[in-house]
Amino acid sequence: MRTSFVAGNWKLNGNQASISALVANINAGLESLNQTTVAVCAPCVYVPLVHTLTQNSTLKLGAQNVSNYETGAYTGEVSAPMLKEFGCEYVIIGHSERRALFGESDEICAQKFVRAQQAGLTPIFCVGETLTEREANQTEAVISRQLQALLAIIDVQDLVNSVVAYEPIWAIGTGKTATPEQAQAVHAYIRQMIANLNKSVAEKLQILYGGSVKGSNAAKLFAMPDIDGGLIGGAALNADEFLTICRAGNKA
Ligand code: 13P
Repeated sequence: MRTSFVAGNWKLNGNQASISALVANINAGLESLNQTTVAVCAPCVYVPLVHTLTQNSTLKLGAQNVSNYETGAYTGEVSAPMLKEFGCEYVIIGHSERRALFGESDEICAQKFVRAQQAGLTPIFCVGETLTEREANQTEAVISRQLQALLAIIDVQDLVNSVVAYEPIWAIGTGKTATPEQAQAVHAYIRQMIANLNKSVAEKLQILYGGSVKGSNAAKLFAMPDIDGGLIGGAALNADEFLTICRAGNKA
């Protein structure tokens, strides 16, 4: 039986004051939630702050990106051991914004996954198609390509200590959520793809949906059999909205 997981991706938002207030409000509301794991993925410089603010809370901490290198002359990069040292448990890898805007290839995303796991972080590995790809019936081919690049350099068993997030790009920040049925179909495809390699890994793997999840649509999405929670962007910046989504995870 898989437990549910809700993670907030704050992206490039917040400052010390707003993040302190947001975490305090999330902490207060989490006390009544015990069946869902909840994490927030902060901008890198705020990781130590959020770590301090979550010392007495069940709220978990993640980062939004990690270097595919561990050490050396890579100006501007932050390594997985650095994130781990400052209290991160999770890291988002291969978000479509990183892939599209910062040129991260399938291969680089796969390398980042390996680096994260080597440092003891749990990767939240994102996959998803563009609208053009969906309309050309390429959704499964794109997801398959993104996951195959990962499976080429890891053992399928390594997926047990990771989370996969399906984020259709056309649903991110657009207010246009995939229907529960559309999302479920892709989640089932991902699980089947993994099951073809290892059934028990597939049954354990948490697969999150991301893309315009809100308090008002989370429950229906999370009720689908292969949707194990969500990766939340805009709605994670508002404590009440985020907690409503977390409560939907608690019931699913
Ligand atoms: P929105 O929830 O703002 O659509 O963002 C989703 C996302 O990209 C989470 O990683």
